[in-house]
Amino acid sequence: MVEFPTLKNDLILRAARGEKVERPPVWVMRQAGRYLPQYHVAKGKNDFFTCCRTAEIASEITIQPVEHYDGILDAAIIFSDILVIPQALGLEVEILDKVGPHFPNPLREPADLEKLNKNVDVKKELDWALKAITATRIKLDGRVPLLGFCGAPWTLMVYMLEGGGSKLYRYAKTWLYKYPKESKELLSRITDVAVEFLAQQVVAGAQMLQVFESSGGELGPAEFQEFSLPYLLEIITRLRKRLFELGITDHVPVSVFPRGASYALDWLADSDYDVVSLDWTIDPAKAVEIVRGRVVLQGNLDPGVIYGTDEIITDKVQKMIEGFGGGKQGYIVNLGHGTQPFFDPAKLGWFLKEVKRIGSQ
Ligand code: CP3
Repeated sequence: MVEFPTLKNDLILRAARGEKVERPPVWVMRQAGRYLPQYHVAKGKNDFFTCCRTAEIASEITIQPVEHYDGILDAAIIFSDILVIPQALGLEVEILDKVGPHFPNPLREPADLEKLNKNVDVKKELDWALKAITATRIKLDGRVPLLGFCGAPWTLMVYMLEGGGSKLYRYAKTWLYKYPKESKELLSRITDVAVEFLAQQVVAGAQMLQVFESSGGELGPAEFQEFSLPYLLEIITRLRKRLFELGITDHVPVSVFPRGASYALDWLADSDYDVVSLDWTIDPAKAVEIVRGRVVLQGNLDPGVIYGTDEIITDKVQKMIEGFGGGKQGYIVNLGHGTQPFFDPAKLGWFLKEVKRIGSQ
């Protein structure tokens, strides 16, 4: 393994392990990206996946928010995408300007499962992603920990069937209710790749991980228990074993983001995930009451608040941190979902500064 620079700010790792901390750490989903003018400069004329696949560009973009918000961000998240697992499984994916993800040949019929690569060699297929992590960890020079991530099986299944973002989830729902057996086959195939990809990200230098179940809320509680939860649990159980096999004895904190599915909080609190990330549809005090210290909570400010006045941002931050019990234990600050391209970087900066000020009181 590569020798990495000494970590100077381990606040998020301590908080994720449930330790008492001096203030709640903060990072932001999609903190690197289009709302930052320097992102467009670094991206130049390259398409999105070229940026991810070029370690030099991916590491620069990953570090941009850490430098822009110097001293007030407590983690970096590697610049990549959840859709790299479908790519490793053999599907073509592109990110179209102003449209988002696009699969020219999505899966549609159960027979299409045959199109997917079997026994995916993660180290080979996603070698570029692992190299970008190593390069970024070195370039970060220990300023903050580097987070790796992947998409959860149900969320990736949605993209692989719909061929992009979706409002109706027509194809994914057709599979769940018409082809449940084949749906589970697909979810298992994705799970296998996710486990190995997460483990290899740690070997490559990731110090914490997050699993994004961004389409969780499309499932009702019973369907979540059938088509999401078993795979989320399988990922964390197998990942722990795999990391041990790979000789990683330090506890690597892992977070799960069941977006729109806060009914799953109680179940996930009993799992081996260290952190559950919440969207803004659940009241912080209610979440704290549900978990009773079983898991660390992360979240959950409505990203739309960043469009608000400074006074309202301050007020919302205050109430959020209070709601999560003051933030000195069991809590990581984040937005309830990713940044938006229309954010004013100064407003996001105000949010981060206020988190640090209020969280330190
Ligand atoms: O800073 C970070 O958080 C790291 C990078 C990151 C990206 N995508 C960069 C990105 C992460 C963690 C993701 C995860 C991701 N990707 C999710 C889960 C989180 C969520 O938002 O729910 C999902 C669902 C995707 C799929 C995806 N990729 C979508 C829907 C889009 C289009 C987004 C849009 O607003 O148009 C992408 C492309 C993408 N991924 C961009 C970025 C910065 C935009 C790329 C560009 O056009 O320059």
